[in-house]
Amino acid sequence: MRTTVVVGAQWGDEGKGKVIDVLTESADILVRYQGGHNAGHTVVAEGKEFIFHLIPSGLLHRGRVGLIGNGVVIDPEALLEEMGRLEAHGIDVARAVKVSDQAHVIFPYHKRLDLLEEASRAGRIGTTGRGIGPCYVDKAARAGLRVADLCDGSGFAEKLKRAVAEKNRLLKRLYDEPPVAYGELLERYRGYAKRIAPHVVNGARFLQEAMAKGKRVLFEGAQGTLLDVDHGTYPYVTSSNATAGGACTGAGVPPTAIDRVIGVVKAYTTRVGEGPLPTEFPADLMEEIRAKGNEFGATTGRPRRCGWFDAVVARHAVCINGCDAIAVTKLDVLDEMETIQICTGYRDPAGGGAGAARTIRDFPSDIDCLARCEPVYESLPGWCRPTGEAEGFDELPPQAQRYLKRLEALLGVPICLISTGSKREQAFKIGRW
Ligand code: IMP
Repeated sequence: MRTTVVVGAQWGDEGKGKVIDVLTESADILVRYQGGHNAGHTVVAEGKEFIFHLIPSGLLHRGRVGLIGNGVVIDPEALLEEMGRLEAHGIDVARAVKVSDQAHVIFPYHKRLDLLEEASRAGRIGTTGRGIGPCYVDKAARAGLRVADLCDGSGFAEKLKRAVAEKNRLLKRLYDEPPVAYGELLERYRGYAKRIAPHVVNGARFLQEAMAKGKRVLFEGAQGTLLDVDHGTYPYVTSSNATAGGACTGAGVPPTAIDRVIGVVKAYTTRVGEGPLPTEFPADLMEEIRAKGNEFGATTGRPRRCGWFDAVVARHAVCINGCDAIAVTKLDVLDEMETIQICTGYRDPAGGGAGAARTIRDFPSDIDCLARCEPVYESLPGWCRPTGEAEGFDELPPQAQRYLKRLEALLGVPICLISTGSKREQAFKIGRW
């Protein structure tokens, strides 16, 4: 298998960083294809915790090359800060980090607009406030600046001037806010451009040439399927395609070049930010699982909302992404549960017409329907034993095996990897994967 896409099959934070870290053993090139520094991929290696926001998380493995694809939105300051951290860890960043010239650049006015828009919205989305949405707005409106523009010595000043003038009109007229200082911004971003320029490549060509030479490529999805702007719980989503299709448009590779797709799920469900979460725990269980699973956002530190595994959501993700297999993370967090619930469908109290209820097995695209749905649960016995030492499926307690087999049956795909703790060693592959 030469090209693998790893995607989140829930609302992000599924533990993709850990799965990617394991799969990087058999990859040469790692690619981020969407999102920006709103993502936070945590990897624990050599006893140290690393949080990646923009750079592909597999780069902790020596000798790999990481590409930030055209579909990503880049905050240069965040990128340089992350490069610095990797360098301090002994990674040869000059060789290892490539940046697509077509990726769009985040400017401070994007962040300001993100916060202003969020504050003036009737229903908050709970954005990370990093300027991601407004930068993608500019991209779609054909008003954005790309890495190629940033590194275009003579042309950048004029392009930035036009962009700042437009944003200043918006800031003043819509929000009555002070303007952005153009001169200062230009100097700052010229400084970033000098440092980023040596990393810039034509991303699509770089990848296609590498693939022609037989290099193995791993695409790292950020966020998750339910945060995808098309297939997620719109409008409570991020502004990019976090699903597998995003790898093609966001990196410049054809769909026919993708060999396999692996979806990552937690053994339960979490979500940060606003929007429906049908299987959300009651307060006491929420506290317990949040503490056990350390469920706090890697980017913003916000507490994550937690709930039981939702098979309707995960099945939707398996279909949209065409997952060949799934990786299940954080199984150990459920170690002490006496009973475990799996949501297998939803009961819509008002969906059957004339006020009658109906049961839904397919993920509803109507957000109001999702918000009023009640989960239909199936109960399984817990295993009440630690799983962190298991080195293979057969070493898991029988009840844990049964739980995982049930997930496979409900999702219709095999499990290829199980993670039972944050350490690198606490994960094992299953079968040929
Ligand atoms: P934005 O991407 O900052 O615009 O935020 C939009 C929504 O996506 C919010 O609910 C965020 O909490 C959520 N979100 C964005 N990035 C991540 C992530 O990496 N993990 C989990 N949730 C995320």
